[in-house]
Amino acid sequence: MAIENNTESWDYAPSLEGTSHIQLKKKYDLFIDGKWVKPKSGKYFASINPANEEVLAEVAHANKADVDLAVKAARKAYNNVWSKMAPSERAKYIYRIARLMQERAREFAVIESLDAGKTIRESRDIDVPLACNHFFYYAGWADKLEYAFPNRKVESLGVAGQIIPWNFPLLMAAWKIAPALATGNTVVLKPAETTSLTALKLAEIIEESGLPAGVVNIVTGFGDTGAAIVNHHDVNKIAFTGSTAVGKIIQKAIAGTHKKATLELGGKSANIIFDDAPIDQAVEGIVNGIFFNQGHVCCAGSRLFVQENIADKVIRKLKQRMDSLYVGNPLDKNTDIGAINSKEQLETINKYIQIGKNEGAEMYQPKCDIPKKGFYCAPTIFTNVAQSNVIAQEEIFGPVLTIQTFRTVDEVIQKANNSPYGLAAGVWTDKGSRIFNLTTKLRAGVIWANTYNKFDPTSPFGGYKESGFGREGGLHGLSGYVKLS
Ligand code: NAI
Ligand code: MG
Repeated sequence: MAIENNTESWDYAPSLEGTSHIQLKKKYDLFIDGKWVKPKSGKYFASINPANEEVLAEVAHANKADVDLAVKAARKAYNNVWSKMAPSERAKYIYRIARLMQERAREFAVIESLDAGKTIRESRDIDVPLACNHFFYYAGWADKLEYAFPNRKVESLGVAGQIIPWNFPLLMAAWKIAPALATGNTVVLKPAETTSLTALKLAEIIEESGLPAGVVNIVTGFGDTGAAIVNHHDVNKIAFTGSTAVGKIIQKAIAGTHKKATLELGGKSANIIFDDAPIDQAVEGIVNGIFFNQGHVCCAGSRLFVQENIADKVIRKLKQRMDSLYVGNPLDKNTDIGAINSKEQLETINKYIQIGKNEGAEMYQPKCDIPKKGFYCAPTIFTNVAQSNVIAQEEIFGPVLTIQTFRTVDEVIQKANNSPYGLAAGVWTDKGSRIFNLTTKLRAGVIWANTYNKFDPTSPFGGYKESGFGREGGLHGLSGYVKLS
């Protein structure tokens, strides 16, 4: 009980992860056909550290002609080498990439935190190990496709164009590249413009692994670079993770072409707490679901539904927990909430917080010392939220949570499903039958029970409705990269 009344947080001495062991070049070219090549335009852009706005490196801006070179290299590698290689040989390369990445896990984690603003705790314990595990996992499938798809003829597609976002830069690269290679495709991948560095480090590892030239090409740039991949006539498949707005543009662009697509888009996921749930664990699950990683998670539990009779208690405990969250330097191991990825994203989040206030919802933010330089946002909750409020409908992609209450199971199912999105959901209850009832009725691709944001390479991930289509991860993740007959 004593702890319940203690709203003061402990002061920890800073515990900074060192940066002396990382190697970053001043300038990164494009990785095409196994070589580092200068962008045709001669243009580079800065990749900054959102925690202090310092420039980390200059990165090449690929244009249409560069993308064309990359696609040609991928096609040549596909025709001459990769599609002809024995699957067990392909597996060896994928394993090798996984092992090399694992050996340099610390370097990857630090660079990810520097470039993306995410906490070192997360990049070290989640992003990097999971990225390695995706390569290990899919390496295992490479020579077992006939068992993955029994009694079917399995063929690769050809060249896969892959466009990824900034919230899990290295992990999204792994999600995309590993299954593509395991199924015998070659790759042209574009990281997000604010977080290119770990993809470029991955290119260095790919080079070191001896993977045949052109099998993986990494082109950096902005939306125009992504569009050049999407619209290239010789790309067979587009794999995209990012905003629903760009997902729709891509879908229009490839309509009527031979291109296959998987799209993993936004979310507004419901986290549902019943009165028989273990409250303290649920509160920790709420915090993990929306505040860690700055809410930069497509499946973030951004809409909380609490059963009415426990709402006061849950909100009180949640506020106490928020009071103890550390916002600040992502490289400090004590930090719970790092930097928002970019100035633009911080502006978007602040715009939504203002909208919430204007809509009449009640806001709570703990007092926290926010660094003067860099992009930061305090954890924020809104109560007194109506189902029709903008903050309850639109994806905010920041540490902002809306809280609503419910009385019955049917009511919460209706409210949770009342969203254009359907990526994930969380259900907290002691009752197994209730979990099964909800998992069949909630329109979401992933549903966690008594936990949140748990990932594993063996388990498929993807959405319903405007959250996209196709699945990544697991056996299902192979399907997007093969033709079956
Ligand atoms: P975005 O969708 O613009 O960016 C994602 C990737 O697509 C980046 O690599 C970008 O360069 C590329 N891209 C942009 N325009 C393109 C085009 N026309 N054709 C091909 N590729 C293109 O996302 P942005 O602007 O960084 O974030 C905006 C919002 O999107 C966020 O506030 C958030 O709500 C959502 N988002 C969702 C993510 C998810 O994991 N589902 C990840 C990142 C953002
Ligand atoms: Mg950056």
